[in-house]
Order: sequence, then structure tokens, then C-alpha cells
Amino acid sequence: MPKINIAIDGPAGAGKSTVARLVAEKMGYIYVDTGAMYRAVTLKVIEAGLTDGNNPASIAALAHKLSLQLKLSPEGQRISVNGEDVTEYIRTLEVNRHVSMVARIEEVRSLLVLKQQQLASAKGVVMDGRDIGTHVLPEAEVKVFLTASARKRAERRFNEMDEDSMTLDELEADIERRDRMDAEREISPLKQAVDATLIDSTSLTIPQVVEYIIDLCQARFGKE
Ligand code: DC
Repeated sequence: MPKINIAIDGPAGAGKSTVARLVAEKMGYIYVDTGAMYRAVTLKVIEAGLTDGNNPASIAALAHKLSLQLKLSPEGQRISVNGEDVTEYIRTLEVNRHVSMVARIEEVRSLLVLKQQQLASAKGVVMDGRDIGTHVLPEAEVKVFLTASARKRAERRFNEMDEDSMTLDELEADIERRDRMDAEREISPLKQAVDATLIDSTSLTIPQVVEYIIDLCQARFGKE
């Protein structure tokens, strides 16, 4: 099979990261979690006290000063900002709360999209996010839009969380709020690319989804 790029988009909690990481592993490809990039910038925005929603220019200026580095480790992708490994700090409730606001800022997006396109330029990349098939890698050879019901996605997040600071209902409401913000924003909203294959994972296991995607690649590009 020639080296290809695989774009996996979809709403929060659909299982994109796990699926993308496993597909990459099986194909010997590089996995790029673009949500982690928006989260890392958001962490720095929080640290700088710029979360009141009225600071897009200051946030963009801050983002320009950040150098993001993605590294693969046996446990998955790690992300550093200006040399500091922030992997453990980007999945908190506080980052969840502010990340959609940061991801709506045009300059932040163009900065990160450029970086994502550079990472994928040599092909052999599985990239997950919201706008990969529509905007970041419109030429990706295989595009998947992975979704699941909001309830199912909330259940998955609930089972992954070590803090029990949120109930399942609260998590579901938070997921629905983020879906709305991501789908309704003006720049690169969350939406299925016309040439993407829709996979609803509500009643599928992770290995089933992974196999489905690999079959899709092999059906189009051959096994070898
Ligand atoms: O996939 P995630 O939950 O880690 O993503 C975090 C946030 O980043 C999410 O609210 C949407 C945003 N995001 C985006 O706007 N574009 C991407 N390519 C990836 C994530």
C-alpha cells in the first residue's frame, strides 16, 4: 500500500484519539492528536489569565510565542510547550471549559493548522480533530467521521475520569454544549466532509472501529 494520510474527525468523546492511535500503530504511521494542540494553547491561556473571552488579540499574540512539540511515547502522544511536557495538565475540567473559546480564534487556528499540515507533509499520518478532512488535509486519502450518541460519549468520558467531580448528566450536558460551540463557530466548524465515511460507534467496540478503518484503507489501496 502506498503511504497515505488518514483524517479522523468527529465530536468530543466519540473515541477518535484511541481509534486514531491504534490505527496508526497497526499501520506503522504517526499519530497526531490535534485536540491536544488546542488544549496545550488553552492551558497557557489559563496560566496567563486570559480566559474572560475578551482577549482574542492577546491570546493570538501568546499563541505565536508558544512552540509546540509532539512526541510519541509507548503510552501515546506527549505534548510539550516551550520545552515543558504538559501532557498531564491538558485534560482537566478547566481546560475543557475554555478550549472551545480558544479554538474559535482565527489566528490560533491558522497557526495550528499550518503546523498540522507540516506534520502530515511526508504522509503516513493518522490525524484526529474536527476539521482535518474538511480543512487541514482536504487531500487525505481516507477520511472518517466518527460519532456516537451524546449519552454514550458521556458514559465513556465518565468511565475514564479519575476525578468524580461531575455526574454523568453534567458530563452529557457539557458534551452537548461543546458540540454546539464546535459546530456553530464560523471558522472551520465541526462538520462531516462530503467524501468522509460516517462511522457511528454507539454500539461498536474500539477494535471493531479500528478494523473497519483499516479495511477501508485496504479496500481502496490494497493490502501490501
Ligand atoms: O478532541 P478534543 O476534545 O481533545 O478537542 C479539544 C477542543 O479542541 C474541542 O473543543 C474542539 C477543538 N478542536 C478543534 O477546534 N479543531 C481540531 N482540529 C481539534 C480540536
